[in-house]
Amino acid sequence: MTEAVKIGIFDSGLGGLSVLREIRKQMPAQPVLYLGDQFHVPYGVRPMEEILQFSRTITRYLLAQGAQLIVVACNTASAAALRTLRQEFPQVPFVGMEPAVKPAAEQTRTGVVGVLATYATFQGALYASVVERFAQGVTLLTSPCPGLVPQIEAGNLTGAETRRILKQELDPMLAQGIDTVVLGCTHYPFVIPLIKEIVGPEVRVIDPAPAVARQVAHLLQEQGWLASGPATDEVLLLTTGEAAALQQLLPALLPEKLPVAHISWHGDQLKA
Ligand code: DGL
Repeated sequence: MTEAVKIGIFDSGLGGLSVLREIRKQMPAQPVLYLGDQFHVPYGVRPMEEILQFSRTITRYLLAQGAQLIVVACNTASAAALRTLRQEFPQVPFVGMEPAVKPAAEQTRTGVVGVLATYATFQGALYASVVERFAQGVTLLTSPCPGLVPQIEAGNLTGAETRRILKQELDPMLAQGIDTVVLGCTHYPFVIPLIKEIVGPEVRVIDPAPAVARQVAHLLQEQGWLASGPATDEVLLLTTGEAAALQQLLPALLPEKLPVAHISWHGDQLKA
């Protein structure tokens, strides 16, 4: 029997677990190696060049560990690095993230859509191109949600400060008539219950993770790499931060228990 093909997934931190969760649901037999760069989180306030360097090193590491398809489960890293990674690793299939402006523009009835992402994502050419291609005639109200990613990284998914940040950003959007909210950062699906509480049942909240997982399955299928059969336990989460801290947060983030290990940056290299 040939070995099942491993997927490499990375994010600045635990946000990409919202994508991993969907991948596990849709492709339970596929081995996965996840890397959260919690040592450097948040990425969204860093220069693009620096995010590109991190993304390049992480990609190289995941490939060296046997991953054959890479999911950039981070909108910010996708904005800063996806194009370059595809050029530098032409033999590797990549799946990246872009804010789901297209489905939002198709579905909105008020013509006003809220987009929550990071500073870096809004600055990137990828976002500009998505807006230009899909958002003609739609008003996009954007917010980089300052301070939200660190709250989520700390496991504060329902507390007062997380609620304050979200209300501060969403209330003015509601006043301007949004009927759709795009989650353009993979950390934000973890606060969907709170977002829904604030925006109410009439406003649609778009989490791109299920569509991204479908794209991963499609690419695996195309390559003849899609694993079938029972769920595999060949899934490992690596963090450049504190493994114990991430392990402790996992029950609030994932429906299954997964092992977590630490990996360190040594200069611009990653070492187990
Ligand atoms: N999860 C990331 C994203 O999708 C980035 C959060 C951050 O590190 O700023 O954009």
